[in-house]
Amino acid sequence: MKITVIGGGYVGLVSAACFAELGNHVTVIEIDSKKVDMINAGVPPIYEKGLEELLKKHSGKNLVAKSDYNDISLSDISVICVGTPPLKDGSANLSYIKSAAGSIGGEIKKNPGHYHVVAVKSTVPPGTTENIVAKAVLEKTGGNQEDVGFVMNPEFLREGLAVEDFMNPDRVVIGSSDEKAGDVAEKMYENLCARILRTGLSAAEMIKYTSNAFLATKISFSNEIGNICKKLGIDVYEVMGGVGMDKRISPMFLNAGAGFGGSCFPKDVMALVSLAEKIGEKPVLLKSVLDVNETQPLKMVEILEKQTGSLKGKKIAVLGLAFKDNTDDIRESRSIPVIKELILRGALVSAYDPLASSEMRKIYPAINYSNTAGDALTDADGCLVMTEWPEFSRLSSEFDLMKDRVIIEGRRILDITDSEGICW
Ligand code: UDX
Repeated sequence: MKITVIGGGYVGLVSAACFAELGNHVTVIEIDSKKVDMINAGVPPIYEKGLEELLKKHSGKNLVAKSDYNDISLSDISVICVGTPPLKDGSANLSYIKSAAGSIGGEIKKNPGHYHVVAVKSTVPPGTTENIVAKAVLEKTGGNQEDVGFVMNPEFLREGLAVEDFMNPDRVVIGSSDEKAGDVAEKMYENLCARILRTGLSAAEMIKYTSNAFLATKISFSNEIGNICKKLGIDVYEVMGGVGMDKRISPMFLNAGAGFGGSCFPKDVMALVSLAEKIGEKPVLLKSVLDVNETQPLKMVEILEKQTGSLKGKKIAVLGLAFKDNTDDIRESRSIPVIKELILRGALVSAYDPLASSEMRKIYPAINYSNTAGDALTDADGCLVMTEWPEFSRLSSEFDLMKDRVIIEGRRILDITDSEGICW
């Protein structure tokens, strides 16, 4: 199949490379010419496990990047993967989606009689594909609905595991305006042997928001239970281990800690809250999910201060700056409010992350950044372990370098017990 992917960001590029791996001919349209050159040279502009290998294998062959929309009408399907960042009120900014749809419409009208499907992979509120994307395309094509179909095909890719997730999906959701459009989209995944779910456009849009909101709810729920357990002296990881053994619940996404971050969960739950309020609903549960997530990082600092006494002038090591391990992405990272609070309480922060220090430096240029976890821990009065980097789980003698062995662990990855100073 001939596929055009609009947007060479994290979702677009991973999807494009994986579609190429599945045997399709893929063109990526990306406005940033630097990214275009990198993709064509087989060099990934972002770090994502397995992506480099795919680009090296397919770039210049069945995967090509460029900046213009020319020839889009020669492809069978265009897949919109542009960003939908939050606006001030929490709702999704759909201007990039609208503009991409208009550009596609302008091109496909040049090839009348050729059937083309416009698919949306970006996360968009229910109704967007039908009311915004289709409208913007049809405005340009003069309302000709014969030659164009519409699809909503959400992604469920985790950063760091995106290639693996794409190639081994739990399901591929294809919402479509009609059977014919859905069939074209389904063909993109032909070589995947995936479980395909066909739905309407709005249901597919809602599935994506609901999945992310549900996963975020599991985390906030676990955190709330964790806070209760902490007060009662009960180990929340032992509790959730038992709870997760129930097949109806599953053991995934029950890890208590500093809360969720990243480019999706906070943004998508906020967008769903905003959407619900706009239509006169009171999304109390979803709002609580966000509330718990806001206060959770501060709980770690409070527990730390309880152990160390006043944080004024104390050296505190923060291990893990990105929103999770194996990425340099600090968007909505829980380390951001944690460091803010530590600074407010007068602590001297010594930060370490295997990949994300230079990103965090843009937000906090004045704190100390260490080159190793051991350096960050040397003479520290306390330590906060924020993410699950495997190298943190191997730390042992490094903790002996601390002045006081107060370790608040956000993720239960260390092989030490409460009596040795672990306090989460
Ligand atoms: C998420 C979804 O998993 C993915 O399906 C969607 O397409 C994009 O958003 P991602 O943001 O890459 O993926 O990260 P994920 O691994 O899901 O973790 C999100 C956040 O939740 C991280 O901050 C992580 O540390 C936190 N988390 C995860 C917990 O606090 N506890 C858990 O049990 C699991």
